[in-house]
Amino acid sequence: MVTLGMAGLLATAGVTVLAGTAEAASTLGSAAAGKGRYFGAAVAANHLGESPYATTLDTEFSSVTPENEMKWDATERTRGSFSFGSADQIVSHAQSKGMKVRGHTLVWHSQLPSWVGGLGTADLRTAMNNHITQVMQHYKGKIHSWDVVNEAFQDGSSGARRSSPFQDKLGNGFIEEAFRTARAADPAAKLCYNDYNTDGVNAKSNAVYNLVKDFKARGVPIDCVGFQSHLNSASPLPGDYRANLQRFADLGVDVQITELDIAGSGTAQANSYSSVVQSCLAVSRCTGITVWGVTDKYSWRASSTPLLFDGNYAKKSAYTAVLNALGGSSGGGGGSATCTATYSKAEEWSDRFNGKVTITAGSSAISSWTTTVTLTSPQKVSATWNGTPSWDSSGNVMTMKPNGNGTLAAGASTSFGFTVMKNGNSAAPVVGGCAV
Ligand code: XIL
Repeated sequence: MVTLGMAGLLATAGVTVLAGTAEAASTLGSAAAGKGRYFGAAVAANHLGESPYATTLDTEFSSVTPENEMKWDATERTRGSFSFGSADQIVSHAQSKGMKVRGHTLVWHSQLPSWVGGLGTADLRTAMNNHITQVMQHYKGKIHSWDVVNEAFQDGSSGARRSSPFQDKLGNGFIEEAFRTARAADPAAKLCYNDYNTDGVNAKSNAVYNLVKDFKARGVPIDCVGFQSHLNSASPLPGDYRANLQRFADLGVDVQITELDIAGSGTAQANSYSSVVQSCLAVSRCTGITVWGVTDKYSWRASSTPLLFDGNYAKKSAYTAVLNALGGSSGGGGGSATCTATYSKAEEWSDRFNGKVTITAGSSAISSWTTTVTLTSPQKVSATWNGTPSWDSSGNVMTMKPNGNGTLAAGASTSFGFTVMKNGNSAAPVVGGCAV
């Protein structure tokens, strides 16, 4: 209580708690650790021999997720015959570098060997429980969190379960059974449900929410929910991303961002990344973030350049945005230019409201700034003032730059404003990080 009270007081007084002489953390992993969180990457065993790949991984990240090596088709391609070679390679690499490991994934409709789909009900139940047990026991004590069940719900408005051998033959109870079996196999591992297109409040995330709520009410073991967060123009960062994480956390589970990648480039991409990091930091039960790959060139969506390092392992502006959002700095120890963007609501009417964003320079003067404001569709901005806006193709993300000269002295502030037409939705816009 005392700690909370103090933090609130400091925040109200506008004191920057972390200001001072200590040099800011200069890697993603160390900056995240400063916030009590891990920062991970999906890793492919066959790239570990590529020196810049391994160096970037080892330098920057504090957790790894095997991208494919722990999936059913890799670990039990033939019934009862388990192969852990390439997953073991990743786990021992991680352990030798002091990185944590996320387990991904035990029960999933995809990358599932065809023999599983051919089993009858009783046999399938035995095979599912045996698979969970064997894989988890092999890695017992080495995995901080397991995606026990992955992607069990359909996209769209139905909130229904996705068809899979497990769903179709074992029925709705398969998820509960998988989690109970997983708890018995490695009681120390956190057990997660993981999915995509659940990053905002929608029919699919509501279905997952109801599942978790029911599990908590009935004492079915579940510790965490993973939000894949594969974001692109068709699935942009939802305006209620943080609120959605928070409502799950409020059910009494941890939340993790498990497969983050954001299509795009430049400032727009950087700002979206920054918003995701800020959202996680704002939710105390958001325990870590994993990006789905180390370098754009090996991304499963390489053509959309969705990661933090480019194909030559150079840091992208998205990298700097993430590092800054985590409170780190790649600059020469404290003197680097930074800024922050904070949102507040001003006037509100039945059909619209005005938002205000305050831009404040960090401990050095800045010569320009940019930030983003993400609306929840079908909201629209009808007016802006004291800034120069541009819009992404979805029409939901406004990138704002200064009108003319964007110079701010160290610690100085300016603000811009805008009117949001609600069109039936009064959700607050999400303001991205501030980039200099
Ligand atoms: C992807 C891998 O990145 C690809 O290499 C593979 O070909 C297909 O799977 N959701 C998940 C991940 O849970 O396992 C998927 O990974 C991406 C979508």
